[in-house]
Amino acid sequence: MAEFRAPPGTHDVLPPESSRWERLVALFARRAGRAGYALVVSPVFEELAVFSRVGEETDVVRKEMYDFLDKGGRRLALRPEGTASVVRAFVQHRPLVPFKAWYAAPSFRYERPQAGRYRQHHQLGVEVLGTEDPELDVEVVTLAWATCRDIGLGGVILLLNSLGDDACRPAYLQTLTAYLAERGDELCDAHRERAAVNPLRVLDCKREPCTNATADAPRLLDHLCEPCRDHFGRVTAGLAALDVPFALAPRLVRGLDYYTRTTFELQSTALDAAQNALGGGGRYGRLVEALGGPATPGIGFGLGVERILLAADHEGVFAAPASTVAVWVVDTTGGAEATALAHLLREAGISCDRSFDGRSMRAQMKSADRAGARLAVIVGPSEVAAGTVTLKDLATGEQEEIGREDVAKLVEERLR
Ligand code: HAM
Repeated sequence: MAEFRAPPGTHDVLPPESSRWERLVALFARRAGRAGYALVVSPVFEELAVFSRVGEETDVVRKEMYDFLDKGGRRLALRPEGTASVVRAFVQHRPLVPFKAWYAAPSFRYERPQAGRYRQHHQLGVEVLGTEDPELDVEVVTLAWATCRDIGLGGVILLLNSLGDDACRPAYLQTLTAYLAERGDELCDAHRERAAVNPLRVLDCKREPCTNATADAPRLLDHLCEPCRDHFGRVTAGLAALDVPFALAPRLVRGLDYYTRTTFELQSTALDAAQNALGGGGRYGRLVEALGGPATPGIGFGLGVERILLAADHEGVFAAPASTVAVWVVDTTGGAEATALAHLLREAGISCDRSFDGRSMRAQMKSADRAGARLAVIVGPSEVAAGTVTLKDLATGEQEEIGREDVAKLVEERLR
């Protein structure tokens, strides 16, 4: 038994799982890059106040923050999500708008660990600052949707809602608060007292007393002001025009408080309700100001890497690749020949590996098999003397002796 283990709620990502991870990030980076998003890398910790602005009333801020004092007495916190960091960077550097950023970043939340719920999880996300245009909402939602489709997930539901803005939400909140006040006793323990402080949180509550008590609660979608209604209408029309299927979800309020207007979530039908959110996001109208910048609208999403891979496991898609390298160099002369040949092949852009420690031919061939290599390049004393190598197709067992000077060219041909 090892003395040390990864802390609760964290996990190591080892091969072959890590290669799926790598492919997922690469696929997302390509998709975001094609749409004009550029990578932003921000610190893993910030002043606590940066993250507090995502919502003083949320669990993320009230209960789950990894905050600490550093040796200089600064109050810092590990990033619980990606949006606040990007917005803080935007306010600090004031890039031109629209500012389109993507990121792949660890996030930290002190949650109760369970399947698909970690204390360190990883998000692939985008944020766009500087425009309210509903066509951008269509672009952003479609990017999240298409990423799930890229990896082959079939059971994904896109839920869509609008949370209104400063013009229409206050009146709605009053209506909702009055509705909840009449049903105070019926709410779950956590929300009986907090309902008046943040009534939207009650709609987000998954516990049965709250879902029962709010089954007929007034819907924000029915109380939007005209500009918000128009905006949302353009978003839904735009998604329909791109054939992105979605379902309206009037109760979808999300777990962070900065949202205004469009909000969305991608849920997997292959996962249990406790961890079925593959990702989510939406517009935030006030966050830039809350972090000291000029009034600037923003929108973005975060996709949970672990959740997406969990859903892929459940659906049997996006499997880890069976092979790590295409070629294995087998050297029975001591190892220096393998060094030279592996270098030559790698310089030619061919993935290859070799054994170390003067292992037997049999052991080296076994390693080739384990790596899923398609070809072995074999070199022994007779090949060295003749200036050749033996090329072996590991699937058919066929082999041929070839001139050493032709090895890269012929290996490339055989792999084609
Ligand atoms: P979020 O919904 O809190 O949104 O997190 C985004 C995704 O991260 C979730 O849908 C889920 O897949 C994953 N996730 C969250 N917490 C955990 C956890 N403890 N373990 C595993 N996966 C988790 C945000 O964080 C927003 N910043 C999204 C956004 C960007 N909104 C606007 N821009």
